[in-house]
Amino acid sequence: MTTIRQFTCDDLFKFNHVNLDPLTETYGLPFYMQYLAHWPEYFQVAESASGEIMGYIMGKAEGQGDQWHGHVTALTVAPEYRRLGLAGKLMSNLEEISEKKMCYFVDLFVRVSNKVAVEMYNKLGYSVYRRVLQYYSGDVDEDAFDMRKAMSRDVDKTSIIPLKHPVRPEELE
Ligand SMILES: CC(C)(COP(=O)(O)OP(=O)(O)OC[C@H]1O[C@@H](n2cnc3c(N)ncnc32)[C@H](O)[C@@H]1OP(=O)(O)O)[C@@H](O)C(=O)NCCC(=O)NCCS
Repeated sequence: MTTIRQFTCDDLFKFNHVNLDPLTETYGLPFYMQYLAHWPEYFQVAESASGEIMGYIMGKAEGQGDQWHGHVTALTVAPEYRRLGLAGKLMSNLEEISEKKMCYFVDLFVRVSNKVAVEMYNKLGYSVYRRVLQYYSGDVDEDAFDMRKAMSRDVDKTSIIPLKHPVRPEELE
């Protein structure tokens, strides 16, 4: 049995095995606390019957006017629980919250090389809005895809019309 519930401070002591994944970013404690304080409804965890963390999603709502949107900051599922539909379920919960908040779209950044995630987001209805050059710093910097899915408030789906040219991180609004 899987329970999806709000992430709590205690979960920060239990999510190490999930975060060992190289594609999963581990942030400093204040970063998680900020999300828990401001957008608790957007921070959800999938827990097994034995109380093990199977995966989690962390997000927020931000932007002004027609840029008001839901954002996926982190999404990860422990290797042993993949391909069970967990990420899909966590994403659809985040979209539901974004619909209730009257967001125009949901967006996320993903490494261009993360084919599994890009494919998954495509399947979930996301498309590439723009490419962000050298968004991820490291030994070799890597570009990101900024992917978006329009919510029902954006009737004409103008928020997801792809940009023709890539942008640099400092150009992100
Ligand atoms: C990407 C990730 C979150 C997917 O989690 P998941 O729970 O396995 O995903 P789901 O079971 O909900 O899969 C949804 C769909 O995505 C696609 N998909 C997911 N994993 C896939 C894989 N390894 N190969 C091919 N397609 C895949 C499939 O179309 C799948 O639907 P299907 O199983 O009905 O065919 C997980 O692999 C992960 O945590 N990766 C490391 C962290 C990461 O990359 N996060 C995203 C960063 S933006």
